[in-house]
Amino acid sequence: MPDPQRIAVLVSGGGSNLEAILEAQKAGRLSHGRVVLVISSRAGVKALERAKKFDIETRVAEKQEDLLKALRDARIQVVCLAGYLKHLSNEVVAAYRGRILNIHPALLPQYGGAGMYGHFVHEAVVKAGEKESGCSVHVVDEEFDHGPVIAQTRVPVMPGDTAETLAARILVEEHKLYPKVIEEFCKKMVNHD
Ligand code: GRF
Repeated sequence: MPDPQRIAVLVSGGGSNLEAILEAQKAGRLSHGRVVLVISSRAGVKALERAKKFDIETRVAEKQEDLLKALRDARIQVVCLAGYLKHLSNEVVAAYRGRILNIHPALLPQYGGAGMYGHFVHEAVVKAGEKESGCSVHVVDEEFDHGPVIAQTRVPVMPGDTAETLAARILVEEHKLYPKVIEEFCKKMVNHD
């Protein structure tokens, strides 16, 4: 079998999606890719602690130049954004064109774009009276939450839902969806390289 794709997960905060990916790796559900590096845009975040718990190398890169250097130095092939709040520079997107994934807690192309992150997304969905929301995994391009969607899970919006209750229902689905999609994506990349 060819070598698994070398994955970097980019984070800025809590890292529950990171943990779901690392759990999948530990359980052997991620075989065509391997997370070898976790890069945070900020020091001191919980995601970095989670990475260390799984013995994964970590870096903090505030500037996009440092991020790109860290990715290149570690010979990263696939980049997964998991709660990464910075806008990737055009250089990073160009260097990894078609090889960067993101997870977003809504049914893109709706409720995405600059400023649509975290509780803002769920507040907007509840306020609009939507009957459904969910999560989307998409390929990253130069614009926020914009590249092609490759997988979605839908969840109902219940009467009486708040942004918090809706976020929690969606997060459970994110944790199931993202590791699966990463495995499928890496499988394609392994065959493509
Ligand atoms: C998730 O809702 C994800 O969809 C969004 O940011 C949140 C990150 O949560 N991009 P966590 O850091 O993985 O817990």
